[in-house]
Amino acid sequence: MAKINENYLKLAGSYLFRETAHRTAAYKEAHPEADVISLGIGDVTQPLPKACIEAMHKAVDEMACSSTFRGYGPEQGYSFLIEKIIENNYKGLGIENDEIFISDGAKSDCGNIQEIFSVDNRIAITDPVYPVYLDTNVMAGRTGLLAEDGHYAGVTYLSCNAENNFCPELPEERPDLIYLCCPNNPTGTTLNREQLKVWVDYARENESVILFDAAYNAYITDEDVPRTIFEIEGAHDVAIEFRSFSKTAGFTGTRCGYIVLPKTVMGKTADGSRQALNPLWNRRHTTKFNGTAYIIQRGAEAIYTPEGKQQVKEIISYYMENARIIREGLTAAGVTAFGGVNAPYIWLKTPDNMPSWDFFDKLLNEVNIVGTPGAGFGPCGEGYFRLTAFGNREKTIEAVERIRNNLHF
Ligand code: MLT
Repeated sequence: MAKINENYLKLAGSYLFRETAHRTAAYKEAHPEADVISLGIGDVTQPLPKACIEAMHKAVDEMACSSTFRGYGPEQGYSFLIEKIIENNYKGLGIENDEIFISDGAKSDCGNIQEIFSVDNRIAITDPVYPVYLDTNVMAGRTGLLAEDGHYAGVTYLSCNAENNFCPELPEERPDLIYLCCPNNPTGTTLNREQLKVWVDYARENESVILFDAAYNAYITDEDVPRTIFEIEGAHDVAIEFRSFSKTAGFTGTRCGYIVLPKTVMGKTADGSRQALNPLWNRRHTTKFNGTAYIIQRGAEAIYTPEGKQQVKEIISYYMENARIIREGLTAAGVTAFGGVNAPYIWLKTPDNMPSWDFFDKLLNEVNIVGTPGAGFGPCGEGYFRLTAFGNREKTIEAVERIRNNLHF
């Protein structure tokens, strides 16, 4: 009989969003009449920008004709998209074409990147954290067992809570890989330039690599919050950035994202010599991935046209208005809420420090609203709860009304 990868047996329960979906489905089955509003998983509700749809239609037509048909494309992505990304998101930051790798989204990239690193590397993650960073390292065998306190042995946890303003402090023990997410999922908070610089300097001094998830960067409004880690001096030697079209332009279903991996980011071999990470990722990507669909890449390219930019701006404003409605509505009802200014997530304190999963059940049962329990993102998320701004306007207003009128904080 084939032996299994036993690291999978170390994983805690099912993937967070499968568990919330499972509980929601069970509730709906038992209460088919209930009008359940989902502000749980960060899935978008607004249609793709018109510019993307038109570009995709055109690309479909090209596929119908032998002279314009495309089969396998470059695994790293078409240059028409890579060039637009650099021109619009990394202008003047010295990023080159072969430092961008187009993919099917940031979730896969954040999960796959750990494959190019040795299994003995120590990882540091924030607590709470987007579960993909941790779970994929557990699967790879880069952690010990899950302890009773909800932490895996061998992992450095960086607590983020209201007391430290959700800004992770530098660890006492040096990690090799540091996962940072800004704007943050789940807390909706950000690191400003100065705070991020502390981490870049730390990574340089300690020869660590920062895995920087910037999937929500389109939601940044504060001038003081960097749009990319490569705005920070020295980051080109220590950082890998993950970006996504999902939350920017509604590609959660169509799937497109990318990694930025400068050729100057180094790791080391067992004999201590320096090795650039870019060629390793290139090797992994070209071996295991056959490229994002041409039609989708044409759609993604269209967000950089003048119409596309305007349409994306409107979509982001729509969600950020939802965020304002949630944040202000709940704050007026006495809820302590964070985030929702530079990010589409609102992170709130549960009433009387109620355990997050109890609050999930209470919200679902009493007002038919689905959110995400903070504890699902790590032990420091206990007593917190996440709502997303990705719902439609009407449902978002209705959800806030239901909470305000029926729950006491
Ligand atoms: C979330 O709700 O945290 C997101 O949907 C996660 C993701 O983008 O995979």
